[in-house]
Amino acid sequence: MFTLLSRSAGLKKFASQYGMRQNGFARRFIAGETIHEAIEVARTLQARGLLLALDYLGESVSTIAKASAAAREYTRLTEVIEAAGIERNISLKLTQLGIAIDRATCVDNLRRILEPAKRHNFFVRIDMENTPYTEATLQVFETLWQLDFRNIGIALQSMLLRTDQDLRRMNELGARVRLVKGAYKEPASVAFQQKADVDAAYVRQMRLLLDHGTYPAIATHDEAIIKETRAYAAERGIANDRFEFQMLYGVRRDLQNQLVAAGYRVRVYVPFGQEWYPYFMRRIGERPANLWFVIRAMMREK
Ligand code: FDA
Repeated sequence: MFTLLSRSAGLKKFASQYGMRQNGFARRFIAGETIHEAIEVARTLQARGLLLALDYLGESVSTIAKASAAAREYTRLTEVIEAAGIERNISLKLTQLGIAIDRATCVDNLRRILEPAKRHNFFVRIDMENTPYTEATLQVFETLWQLDFRNIGIALQSMLLRTDQDLRRMNELGARVRLVKGAYKEPASVAFQQKADVDAAYVRQMRLLLDHGTYPAIATHDEAIIKETRAYAAERGIANDRFEFQMLYGVRRDLQNQLVAAGYRVRVYVPFGQEWYPYFMRRIGERPANLWFVIRAMMREK
């Protein structure tokens, strides 16, 4: 049912029309359509003792012109973020910068963002997308690393069968890894299909990162895994400032607050922009209960 709904043009039209209105249902997960709305949200998160990462939504652009426009927009946004005085930390996707069209263009676009970002002390995280782009994303990351950019990090997905290997590859570089379970539907040839297998891989990789990684980000809302991470860090004498937890805007605020109160570093990923629909649908797909809250909103508007 979810797959059907997610492909429905009617749902997309409804969501675009109502989702981001004042108190619209998409606002639970999306900070706004403009950078100024995102900055407002960022300020309230900082006031709660949270760290943040801003993500200007967009993915799978279809032309080189659009990819270059996204890079220009990111550069402009870093100036706005700097002027606002909030934390300088952004996340981006390489299909937004043209990796699916031309690798060299994508590298150029990323460089155009990273050069000013480096001068102005921004940290830039490269999100991990679906498996057609896993190896390409890692290679682009390594290219930029070889060009001496160190203000960058990468995300790896526990659900993929290849991730233990990729983790070692990133640990050898000394790169900062954000560990996530993985948000894309992938076939059994490349990914675990059972939640228990993904969770077991996540725990194994969390330990590898805490032992051998560089300031890893444990990005999950899974309470059991967070508990396991806390216990492992305590057992190994790993201080709270040697790693951070990360969560998504709108998900488990209670847990975010509890971790901050317990003295952990918690970063919230704050997505914004007009291209919010694919991101929003991934959040809905993760939890059937979320679908009902969209359906209820649709009933109210009818
Ligand atoms: P799991 O799905 O098992 O959920 C555990 C609990 O968290 C649930 O029981 C529920 O309470 C809560 N929860 C999880 N998702 C929820 C939702 N949508 N709504 C309400 N409650 C929810 N993925 C990717 O492929 N590439 C990437 O680059 C990133 N980047 C990224 C950054 C950050 C900071 C986070 C936290 C996550 C990502 N992800 C991602 C998404 C990630 O792969 C994964 O899809 C989600 O985090 C959900 O998985 P959990 O680890 O929370 O576990």
